[in-house]
Amino acid sequence: MSFFNKKPAGSFPHRDLTGIAALSKDDILALLDRADDYAQRLERGNFQSDLLRGRIVLTLFFEDSTRTRTSFEMAAKRLGAEVIHWDVKTSSLNKGETFGDTIATLGAMKPDAIVIRHSEYGAPLTVAQMVDCPVINAGDSWREHPTQALLDVRMMRAAKGDLSELTVAIIGDIAHSRVAASNMILLRKFGANVRVIAPDILMPEKLPAEGVQQFSSLEEGLNGADVVMTIRPQKERMQTALIEDAAYYRDYGLNHDKLAFAKPDAIVMDPGPFLRGVQISDELADDESRFVYLKQVEGGVPARMAVFDLLLTGKF
Ligand code: CP
Repeated sequence: MSFFNKKPAGSFPHRDLTGIAALSKDDILALLDRADDYAQRLERGNFQSDLLRGRIVLTLFFEDSTRTRTSFEMAAKRLGAEVIHWDVKTSSLNKGETFGDTIATLGAMKPDAIVIRHSEYGAPLTVAQMVDCPVINAGDSWREHPTQALLDVRMMRAAKGDLSELTVAIIGDIAHSRVAASNMILLRKFGANVRVIAPDILMPEKLPAEGVQQFSSLEEGLNGADVVMTIRPQKERMQTALIEDAAYYRDYGLNHDKLAFAKPDAIVMDPGPFLRGVQISDELADDESRFVYLKQVEGGVPARMAVFDLLLTGKF
């Protein structure tokens, strides 16, 4: 373990962030509160730009990303770290090097943190066992996307207050979505009323959290919801398209008329990328009073600053 990875007593009790399931409520509250602090600091222009000076964060994205990779990089740089992006497309994986040998090789260079996205279930857990620096899951398969859930729930808490009082309806591809999974796990830890709404073909046999209600009817599932989250069909994780876009939009696409089934002040969230005309109408997507997607994106940077802070240096 490097000098930088030695943490003082009383520090955050995890070296890695591999999923929400591994965190206690206190851990999550510490991350959410620290993210609130960083959001305020970013607004004031005073965000501890020296905190990670001298550290090197290595990003390993085996899957495409716009939001997550960029906001991890911004978060690291806002805290003074340097970021090296390893590019799967130009890597020696293409010469036959195995995944395990690639990770061992990169770990031998002693980065101070690794951020990884991978299509294989549990890949960040495997990497965490192989290297001696913090490993942060930026999304693996359909299992978990913990930083997305942290930024989502921080937004819900800011917009609606006490999580235990909330009814959150998640519409869409519940079977293949790591965002839906991490949000279900996190929200149920705090006692929120969580519903998932999907056609049978996009509903998994088993949900990742206990006590989540299942609906196939959009009208029934949205009834009384404070927060509505839309999740696109994750075609990259399907062998063949399981549902046509037009049929999906007809039955599960959200517009202002269908949103009226939820509470009158319900907000609509989406982790992105969102698909206009499939998940959501143009009119609703452009209505920033209801669709808070860009605020979610904005919140991704302070949420990831909080993760770097608590994992690399922060006191609990
Ligand atoms: N929300 C999310 O994970 O987006 P990206 O795939 O663009 O990172």
